[in-house]
Amino acid sequence: MHPQLLELEKKFNPSLLTAIHSPLLEQKQIELWVKRDDLIHPVISGNKWRKLKYILDHAITINCHTILSMGGAYSNHLHALAFAGKQLGLKTIGYIRGERPENLSPTLQDIQNWGMELRFISRAEYRELRNYKKYNELPAHYLKKSQDGQYWLPEGGATELALLGVGELVSEIDRVYDVVCVPCGTGTTFAGIISSVPEHCTVQGFSALKGAGFLNKDVEKILNEFSGNKKTNWTIQLDYHFGGFAKRNNALLLFIEDFAQQHGVELEPVYTGKMFYGLFDLIQQDFFKPGQRIVAVHTGGLQGKRK
Ligand SMILES: Cc1ncc(COP(=O)(O)O)c(C=O)c1O
Repeated sequence: MHPQLLELEKKFNPSLLTAIHSPLLEQKQIELWVKRDDLIHPVISGNKWRKLKYILDHAITINCHTILSMGGAYSNHLHALAFAGKQLGLKTIGYIRGERPENLSPTLQDIQNWGMELRFISRAEYRELRNYKKYNELPAHYLKKSQDGQYWLPEGGATELALLGVGELVSEIDRVYDVVCVPCGTGTTFAGIISSVPEHCTVQGFSALKGAGFLNKDVEKILNEFSGNKKTNWTIQLDYHFGGFAKRNNALLLFIEDFAQQHGVELEPVYTGKMFYGLFDLIQQDFFKPGQRIVAVHTGGLQGKRK
């Protein structure tokens, strides 16, 4: 790995496991731990560092000086990228969905302060950008005039290199376990976990988006491209979206509040809150067998909670 990245990595904390105890878990004889990736870094937390690490290494190694990517006004991905870019001396450009708001969200304020250039684009342009998946595939009119040294990173950092970093998360789990749970946006983190867990384990994804049946095909494709992997030890829960991406209701918000009080673990309503809500619901419904040991990955994202 490039020395600049090794230097940055030194600033990270180890990701520990927090044991969760509750009458429901006891009654159903389920063991549950949270993999605390939310605590690995004050800014580049959760799956963000896992996904970005080898991508940034690649960009630096091939002498790129600018990273361009895309996201919404509360994007955890752009937030982490802008911060990492500043630390590593890379220029960053973020294509943001929608018009420039009068008041920038706290996420956008941060990323602008860290030097990311914000380019607001229409929903149609945003959809178009989703077609470009490779680092050197972005059409010239989206790049800076001189086209050398520019690196395109698709939405959510969804590239094969992201899977390598996610695999490291799995190798750190120093307990025997049967199931790993993780929230899904693009499904990249989920795919990285599938490709790295031991044979006997299953991986349970929880979609943050409504109508996300397409994720099954997407994940198959990512796994196939990454390693010709035909694993079938995974399923995605599609019904814990609470009305759609970033939608929420009182039941979810109360669950999150209660979870923080009972277990001292803060969740947010876009990804991790929905996953834990779904996980407890599945446990209640006897979806898991007594004696099963579950590790749920806290993918961070708490910055997005700010108003
Ligand atoms: C906090 C958090 N959890 C989970 C995810 C989903 O990750 P992926 O797009 O790899 O499925 C995201 C989005 O990147 C996220 O910000």
